[in-house]
Amino acid sequence: MPGKGRVIVTQDSSFVNYVLRENHTNYQKAKLDTDVVAKQLGTSLLFVNGDDWRRQRRLIQPAFHHNSIQQLYETVMNTVNAYIANFPQGAQVDVYPLMRELSFSVLLNSLFNIDMSREMTDELCRGFINLQDFMAKDVLQPFRRFLYPVTGAEKNLVKQWDGIRDMLRGIIAQRRADETTHNDLLAMLLNSRYEDTGQGMSEEQLISELLILLFAGHETTGSTLSWLLYLIASNHQVCEKLICTIEKTDMLDSPRDSYINAIINEGMRLYPAVWINERVAIKDDQFGGFSFPAATSILTYIYGMHRCEAYWEDASTFNPERFLKSEGLIDKNVKNYLPFGAGPRMCVGNNFAMAEMAFVLYTIFKTFHISTTGAPPAAWPLLTLRPREVILNIKKI
Ligand code: HEM
Repeated sequence: MPGKGRVIVTQDSSFVNYVLRENHTNYQKAKLDTDVVAKQLGTSLLFVNGDDWRRQRRLIQPAFHHNSIQQLYETVMNTVNAYIANFPQGAQVDVYPLMRELSFSVLLNSLFNIDMSREMTDELCRGFINLQDFMAKDVLQPFRRFLYPVTGAEKNLVKQWDGIRDMLRGIIAQRRADETTHNDLLAMLLNSRYEDTGQGMSEEQLISELLILLFAGHETTGSTLSWLLYLIASNHQVCEKLICTIEKTDMLDSPRDSYINAIINEGMRLYPAVWINERVAIKDDQFGGFSFPAATSILTYIYGMHRCEAYWEDASTFNPERFLKSEGLIDKNVKNYLPFGAGPRMCVGNNFAMAEMAFVLYTIFKTFHISTTGAPPAAWPLLTLRPREVILNIKKI
């Protein structure tokens, strides 16, 4: 591939398993091509490799363990309830920007459980939209990179992001000076210590990690929720069963409900937010009779694997029951299914995302009748698999 060297695109389950799990030490994340992203987020958990990654992962992972996440449930539920209370109703509502905004607010409140001014949240939100648009353009039109110095596009983004880092520096300084106890991810990360030195993260590292959690967590969840609303609204049987389930459950218990989990899993099978995933071989390697040199890029085509007829019966049908065992419990050992990746670099926020999505579906389908307006949304596969728009009819029950 021009500019990239040798590339293998695969949806072969055993090869993917080999790269992400069995021989994962020979594979690392690709280098970030875009300077502005590398400068702001390059040293964070999502992008570092080797020992730096291991050290960061060990430090951050405890904040996302089941027990820690449960401490955030109240914040997440309050955010979801407040947002849905002002949710627009009517015909032809595009729910994609709403789900993206809701996911952003949930993460922001879970990271910093403080009263943030509207200007600050707007600035942060704009920063992420601009960064994602910039990255999307960069991926689609890499030949335009030489124009960045002329148009000032990169310089403006760096300036905006330097401002965002200053804002976070201010929040951290305020928190360090505050002696009251806070229940949020910032408090958990400020209290965490590296195993080897017993020290906490440096301020710059902490800022990068806070930003990457916002970056990795909001658009993935926002897109998934939008696809889910469309899939449920367009499937009468699933919608009825979900409504019956909700009647028998309360909001706090919804993340543990098997049927709600099965719906979310099936939505992520058909529309995996991370639809493709890259690793680069460190040394020459071979698999299944093929050999390839160091620096080969392996692209796991998760979308293809999730819709492959050899792996899934009626692959294109939305059928949450395929994630349930005969006793109605959730099946945790479904094969050829990687919405959160696999191996040691699997998504650190998966429990958080699953709980958040359960709360959102619970609240929306308890409050509204949702129906589709016709054609399925068009997919826009950029960094994540976004819908271009998801137009639905929304009416209060
Ligand atoms: C539906 C929602 C989500 C999906 C589908 C998703 C998917 C993924 C996938 C596939 C990976 C692995 C990428 C790879 O192997 O290269 C990943 C990594 C990651 N995710 Fe998520 N994610 C979601 C939500 C979240 C949330 C809510 C957070 C944080 C609050 C988060 C934080 C991260 C981080 C930090 C990594 C990097 C982990 C590492 O490299 O050690 N994600 N995610």
